[in-house]
Amino acid sequence: MTDLFSKFDPLIQQRETLLATGVTDPYNLVMEKVISPTVAICNGRETILLGTYNYMGMTFDEDVIAAGKDALDKFGSGTTGSRVLNGTYQGHKECEEALKEFYAMDHAMVFSTGYQANLGIISTIAGKGDYVILDIDSHASIYDGCKMGDAEIVAFRHNDVDALEKRLKRLPADAGKLVVLEGVYSMLGDVAPLKEMIRVSKEAGAMVLVDEAHSMGFIGENGRGVAEAQGVLDDVDFVIGTFSKSVGTVGGFCVSNHPKFEIMRLVCRPYVFTASLPPSVVATAATSIRKLMHGSNKRAHLWENSKVLHKGLRDLGFQLGTDEPQSAIIAVIMPDLEQGAMMWEALLEEGLYVNLARPPATPAGMTLLRCSLCAEHSIDQVGEILGRFERAGKRVGIIG
Ligand SMILES: Cc1ncc(COP(=O)(O)O)c(C=O)c1O
Repeated sequence: MTDLFSKFDPLIQQRETLLATGVTDPYNLVMEKVISPTVAICNGRETILLGTYNYMGMTFDEDVIAAGKDALDKFGSGTTGSRVLNGTYQGHKECEEALKEFYAMDHAMVFSTGYQANLGIISTIAGKGDYVILDIDSHASIYDGCKMGDAEIVAFRHNDVDALEKRLKRLPADAGKLVVLEGVYSMLGDVAPLKEMIRVSKEAGAMVLVDEAHSMGFIGENGRGVAEAQGVLDDVDFVIGTFSKSVGTVGGFCVSNHPKFEIMRLVCRPYVFTASLPPSVVATAATSIRKLMHGSNKRAHLWENSKVLHKGLRDLGFQLGTDEPQSAIIAVIMPDLEQGAMMWEALLEEGLYVNLARPPATPAGMTLLRCSLCAEHSIDQVGEILGRFERAGKRVGIIG
């Protein structure tokens, strides 16, 4: 018998070597108690959270929690069915209405996760004989959506407009083409040049999908994302998003102005063949989305946090993923996985949680300490975070 697990041996070996150094397992941390969007108890210690996707701090919003409790009382704990059968409640429709209003678009479709939204939309709209043209650093859910469909896949160099244009020019003029982009790339926290990319895509007759998972709620005047900030939202055919980041719960969605969009509800398998979100989840999402429409003060404070942390870390001598702060994510580049894990652990001992990111999730084989800020971090907390980075960095020898 061939052991089907033997393909994982190199990863098992790498993990055992790392843990043999005595470092805490960075992928097995338990949040023992969560006190607020920015503070939790980990290993019995009060810890500042700088590695969540809770960009707008909505998880403890009073109105959001009240809406969830009310829906739980009135509609029960789950729908036990697909959206196309018994799983569409009033709350799902209200959530879709909130999304349509948030993006000022004609159609909104709520999925059970953002992962499923990418999986479903990409695999369904790009079929046999069509092309999906995607940034090489695209999220796993985009790649998996491509794998699930029958279209030809063409990747281009990260954020490179010329490379995208060249690839598009090589494709048959009359073939169906879907260009898939992200607003913010979550590993380095860098923003896509959507304006130029959408222009070359449209010139080549392609439809455009933008995943705004890491920009919704924060970037753009109304928090609609990078396409809004760059003035090109009207040229985007499909916006994909998630409730698991700024919205503060779980779920995914696609919004669009395409006149035939509603047919997706019958042909998109990751929408049809899975249970719909629980009523409490869609109630929290709808309430949060409506509050995010009026979140301009929070957005301004989050930008301030991002600028202060970026400058502070650079001044301390850390190597960062971007020259300027471009989003709520600031990536600190580590020399290698071992030192990255040591630094991660040293920060945890200081009472600071960040994400340790490593290949294959990261580009160019990098090990990163990904810091993601929250609108609920106070400026004092950001100062405290910098102090903890300085102490840990000196202890591990990452900075002098
Ligand atoms: C760019 C991007 N798209 C989609 C997703 C999936 O979102 P969800 O957590 O809702 O499945 C993520 C999650 O990390 C993401 O980073």
